Amino acid sequence: MVDTGEIKNLPVHVAIIMDGNGRWARQRNLPRVEGHLVGMESVREIVTTTRKLHIPYLTLYAFSKENWKRPKEEVKRLLELLEIYLEKELPLMMEKGIRLNILGDIKDFPKRVQRRLQETMDKTKKNRELCLNIALSYSARKEILQAATAIAEEYKRGAIKRINERVFEKYLWTKGIPDPDLLIRTSGEMRISNFLLWQLAYTELYITDTLWPDFREEAYIEALKEYSRRDRRFGSIKEA
Ligand code: IPE
Ligand code: IPE
Ligand code: MG
Repeated sequence: MVDTGEIKNLPVHVAIIMDGNGRWARQRNLPRVEGHLVGMESVREIVTTTRKLHIPYLTLYAFSKENWKRPKEEVKRLLELLEIYLEKELPLMMEKGIRLNILGDIKDFPKRVQRRLQETMDKTKKNRELCLNIALSYSARKEILQAATAIAEEYKRGAIKRINERVFEKYLWTKGIPDPDLLIRTSGEMRISNFLLWQLAYTELYITDTLWPDFREEAYIEALKEYSRRDRRFGSIKEA
């Protein structure tokens, strides 16, 4: 059972930069891939807890556009793990009403992985309890640029008359998804690493030294408790 007694207000959307798998493995003299493997267990636990708490949106940063620059062997293993994850977790997604949505350039992936991603999104598309976004080959700058390009084209042919924030957001990969309330980054780095640059404008940041493979339900609840104590002002002043 999750003890959430102290949490007065849960976020609607949690985004997580799942960092530190490599360091976790290095600390144990294991190959980096072992860290990714145990990190997958953390993914399962965090998804399950999110669902249990009725938080409707979870976005996980799993692979950045820049991560393609890693050694071929590590990239290959990460792709294999992604395929295993999709196959293994589909029953859980169906059972728990979890809809999978991918943010990023799916086209960068090998055809087989693309098919598997598409298939999982199709099969889960009617699920309504939790929207699980996984950012894959994701770059926030790329997302913003493709939105700007699409808008410029539509504007030129007269399909849109006005460009404002509301219109712009419709061209982002996160269309229809509320901005994250809470961003968690594991492993202590104080940076955003090209994640959701537009959407994080007023998100609460929570950075923990815990490495991703060690980030389990208890650590997550701690982050949610901290979030519930934050005073969000959105540029305004506090009411008397
Ligand atoms: C996060 O862990 C997983 C991915 C970026 C794919 P890292 O692999 O970045 O682990 P560290 O940061 O090297 O410890
Ligand atoms: C961010 O982690 C990307 C993911 C967690 C998928 P990185 O390990 O790639 O980020 P940097 O290199 O430390 O900024
Ligand atoms: Mg890292």
